[in-house]
Amino acid sequence: MKIDLSGKNALVTGSTRGIGRAIAEALAASGARVGIVGRDAERARAIAAEVSPEAQGFGCDVSDPAQIVALVEDAEREFGSIDILVNNAGLTRDNIMLRLKDDDWNAVIDANLRSAFVATRAVTRGMMKRRSGRIINIASVVGLIGNKGQTNYAASKAGLIGLTKSVAKEFASRGVLANVVAPGFIETDMTAALTAEARAALSAQIPLERLGQPQDVAGAVLFLCSDLASYITGQVLVVDGGMVM
Ligand code: NAI
Repeated sequence: MKIDLSGKNALVTGSTRGIGRAIAEALAASGARVGIVGRDAERARAIAAEVSPEAQGFGCDVSDPAQIVALVEDAEREFGSIDILVNNAGLTRDNIMLRLKDDDWNAVIDANLRSAFVATRAVTRGMMKRRSGRIINIASVVGLIGNKGQTNYAASKAGLIGLTKSVAKEFASRGVLANVVAPGFIETDMTAALTAEARAALSAQIPLERLGQPQDVAGAVLFLCSDLASYITGQVLVVDGGMVM
């Protein structure tokens, strides 16, 4: 069976680099028309041109609910419909809990969790009418097992899992499927600050003995967006080389 997403329109937040970009490239390579979303609209348009001639760039700061609503309206107007939503944009503001400021908590929850709620609520109206849609939320293994210095980030990612399962239950009868992909350590700008020693120590804890690549995560997302996954909803697919099991 070959994955064919031609005729499908996908919106991927935070897709100007890293995991989001790899997801956008994988969806486009399978025939989907992809909306590249970044805070800087001009950069998003430039990346879209690199990803595929059909891709379109959109500017949106996902920390701002009004910008997400406008993004979905724009994308629906441009594309006609949104069939696939990938909530990928995310950030970290790490600190031990006693030093974590309220602003650090709110910034991470707003960008990582509230954004997915607002975007999902906006796209599901159309998906429900068409009785078809896929929502993929990019969480993290940290949302499953917690992490020192990441109370805000872990809470946002655990929250995404609860959000996804609830969406899966609410919308299953309308043909809308929702799943989580939970990456382990993936080589992107987010993990670029790791020292060589930290990288080696991490690899030693990973059964597959390496950090992941953005394409490893993109493959899981592509599968969950495809007909191969039409009987899968409310699940967490961990992509971590076997680190958490
Ligand atoms: P990255 O930092 O390279 O990319 C994150 C993207 O989100 C960037 O394009 C950034 O501009 C965008 N973004 C952040 N805040 C935004 C906002 N307010 N509005 C619009 N866009 C915003 O990081 P990476 O690694 O590609 O991360 C992608 C997703 O994967 C994130 O949700 C992250 O939490 C998750 N993840 C990453 C892991 C890793 O090891 N790299 C592990 C587990 C999860």
